[in-house]
Amino acid sequence: MAIAIRTDIAYQQCIGQGCGARFSVEEPLFECPKCGDLLDARYDWSRAALPKHLKDFEAKWARQDDPLAFSGVWRFHELLPFAGREHIMTLGEGRTILQRADRVAAFAGLAPGRLFLQYEGLNPSGSFKDNGMTAAFSHARLAGATRAACASTGNTSASVALYSAVDGRVPAVVLVGSGKIAYGKLAQALDYGVRVIQVQGDFDACMKRVKEVARELKIYLMNSLNPFRLEGQKTIMYRILEGLRWEVPDWVVVPGGNLGNSSAFGKAFQELVETGLIQRPPRLAVINAAGADTLYRLVNEERIAWNGGRVDEGRIAAFYSQMDAENRRAKTLASAIEINRPVNLKKCLRALEWTGGLVEKVTDQEILDAKAQVGAGGFGCEPASAASVAGVKKLRAAGVIGRDERVVCVLTGHALKDPHATVAYHTKKEGELAEAYGDYGIRTAAHANRPIVVEDNLEKIIAAIQA
Ligand code: F0G
Repeated sequence: MAIAIRTDIAYQQCIGQGCGARFSVEEPLFECPKCGDLLDARYDWSRAALPKHLKDFEAKWARQDDPLAFSGVWRFHELLPFAGREHIMTLGEGRTILQRADRVAAFAGLAPGRLFLQYEGLNPSGSFKDNGMTAAFSHARLAGATRAACASTGNTSASVALYSAVDGRVPAVVLVGSGKIAYGKLAQALDYGVRVIQVQGDFDACMKRVKEVARELKIYLMNSLNPFRLEGQKTIMYRILEGLRWEVPDWVVVPGGNLGNSSAFGKAFQELVETGLIQRPPRLAVINAAGADTLYRLVNEERIAWNGGRVDEGRIAAFYSQMDAENRRAKTLASAIEINRPVNLKKCLRALEWTGGLVEKVTDQEILDAKAQVGAGGFGCEPASAASVAGVKKLRAAGVIGRDERVVCVLTGHALKDPHATVAYHTKKEGELAEAYGDYGIRTAAHANRPIVVEDNLEKIIAAIQA
């Protein structure tokens, strides 16, 4: 496919009902300057250089000496044509695998061959964030940014730090809640040499502050409020289709935190339908941790919906006021999604409408049990990611997902994140486990792989191996 990318067809547009203001693609914005609502990256598809069929992207597989064809994000450049080749900053991200997972299918109650896991932990910094970061750093270059900032529970900071370190032109600062960042991720951010600010507060506090900092100091914001981050994350869905030989699954299941992924995934499918590259979208299922269930409550209890753009903002504001009045704070072992106020809420509601999607929630116990099953099948994932598998099990038990439907779970982050919970799950006796993690509702470890303690004695070691 020798197609010249057309970037003159890209622009930014406010999603606000009654606003819809448009802005040039070159402007570094993370909110609508007119009304403060979220922005989309948009394209005039009628003038785009699109392939006729998704299968045409396969031509890129033969051109891996080209960094843009090597990247699992930029080999779909035609579907995110906002930056020319000269601006693109890629680290070969997105070379991730869609794996058929029959063992996990059995655990979740699906027929063999019906469950697939999309391992985004295999990205350069260990999470799906790199899909978004290559796009955002490319846009930052395009927009002439000289500094970047983000708030993070861990993965975003590691990814920003990695891209910033390699790029060398866009130094970054990351805001993390003290005691609220996963240790390994903090290690990455420190090691990659970015400025780390530990704020005495939680993720929501950091998120609020980083927006203020970005406005005040005109620093380029790398969180998923940034519409170009989401453009990169769309490609996870293209790779799922690629892994299924361009067939659309019945369900795509994803953990919900700040709701960037679910927003991006909905947009990816809506655009593929709009451009005629697929006929129907899969249904999106977004899974909250029970201890961080803002989306679940808003959608299933408050009945908040996108409603063609007429979102009941008053009701959302009242919900948040009540949350503050009751001092209800997110608490889950799935540290990545321990978020009270998801910034992409409205876009996620839109994605749910576009895809006939739904929201479920799962307990930390369900998450850790599912995580152990995923790990036992290879690669593994962090707790937040396993919420997707726990969600499928629950939706399957309720009969919402059929036994023979084809389901893809997005495993957003690597197994080496949050190892304390994993090691405790596999090693602690039940009483000790409840003592250490009872606060999170963890009582049992039904799928524990217990290490066997033996004396330094060959016979006993052999006996333990042979037992
Ligand atoms: N899974 C992982 C591994 C994550 O790191 C995150 C978000 C999510 C899921 C939630 O994704 O926001 O698109 O709904 N982590 C952010 C961070 C908050 O700072 O690394 P979402």
